[in-house]
Amino acid sequence: MDPFQYRDGQLYAEELPLSDLAERFGTPLYVYSRAMLETQYRAFDDAFGGHPHQVCYAVKANANLAVLNVLARLGAGFDIVSGGELERVLRAGGDPSRIVFSGVGKTADEMEAALKAGIHCFNVESAAELELLNLVAGEQSMVAPISIRVNPDVDAQTHPYISTGLKDNKFGVDINDAPALYQRAADLPHIEILGVDCHIGSQLTSLGPFEDALGRVMALVDKLTLQGIAIRHLDLGGGLGVRYREEQPPTPAEYVATLLKYVPGDLPVHIEPGRSIVANAGVFLTRVLYLKPTAHKNFAIVDGAMNDLIRPSLYSAWQDIVPLIPHDADCRHWDIVGPVCETGDFLGKDRALALETGDLLAVRSAGAYGFAMASNYNSRNRPAEIMVDGDQAFIVRQRETIEDQLQQESLLP
Ligand code: LLP
Repeated sequence: MDPFQYRDGQLYAEELPLSDLAERFGTPLYVYSRAMLETQYRAFDDAFGGHPHQVCYAVKANANLAVLNVLARLGAGFDIVSGGELERVLRAGGDPSRIVFSGVGKTADEMEAALKAGIHCFNVESAAELELLNLVAGEQSMVAPISIRVNPDVDAQTHPYISTGLKDNKFGVDINDAPALYQRAADLPHIEILGVDCHIGSQLTSLGPFEDALGRVMALVDKLTLQGIAIRHLDLGGGLGVRYREEQPPTPAEYVATLLKYVPGDLPVHIEPGRSIVANAGVFLTRVLYLKPTAHKNFAIVDGAMNDLIRPSLYSAWQDIVPLIPHDADCRHWDIVGPVCETGDFLGKDRALALETGDLLAVRSAGAYGFAMASNYNSRNRPAEIMVDGDQAFIVRQRETIEDQLQQESLLP
């Protein structure tokens, strides 16, 4: 399904013309489709059939409360990486007993908050973290449920910044060291072993690396069983890619079916998809401020910038840029650039578009790692966020104001 389709000469979000939303709420603007979020979540959830499982949406991809709430209503679990994400999930009505807590740098305060909230599992990423968690749980007279995140040393064949399952990466525990660390965990009084966790990277467009990693994880599970350590669930992380351009990633159904081939009996499986649930449920709207054709290049200066959507600048990511209301004019090649004072501030380069000043554009596939990575660089206010549900549009985040930005700061006395 694609909730963003042209009808009567203009681009719609479900039943609403996007140009109306841009006029009503201003630009730059993020717009999400509720129907698409639900479709994608259900695609993962349904793919498991009767196999015990939990889909834990990776909050980092898009942490808006309304997005979390839509998924919570469907029974989603959540993968969090900070105390802030924990608080968001709780306020969005997420069930704490379906939360898993990943991340290499959990603080004692974050551990305590998560224990008190009653989360399902900590995905422990180092020996030192395991010791601290045991201590923090002891102070609360509690027992912390854990998986150890193992690093299987497989090449996810994705952008180096978003590959996480190689020995060079900071994530997880070397899979060869895991049996000893599980033994240590078994001996700690305030730790309860639940599972094994693994996440190898993001935007994976083939199943091979997942299969390699899972093969190694299953070999570890066998070893642990021989050690007398029972594994009660597998957490296989997130990472399924989406189509930005010409990628042909497997569907959620193909992905889950492949994973389940390796999982014995009815051992429960958790997954942590982020991008594949939200990326194509969102667009980023921006308006052309100035056209600046030069002898070498044509620049279209728009009101959205790298501080709003950093993926093109940070990863050289390609995201489609399309007009909300296409013209019948000749196309030229344009670099779509923002007002931020950096050469790296672009949303797309060399795009064939028929543009006029004042035109509205949509950057597609912007629901994941879009607003979530936005900043106030150049003291720009972060955009508003809108959720479309059929023929209704809801503001799910107000546009920031300069007052919002300045309220944390003060002058010297
Ligand atoms: N679980 C863990 C432990 C993760 O580190 C991540 C993503 C996920 C799940 C979700 O992965 P997904 O299904 O979204 O691929 N900002 C980058 C992506 C960074 C991904 C970080 N970890 C981008 O815009 O491409």
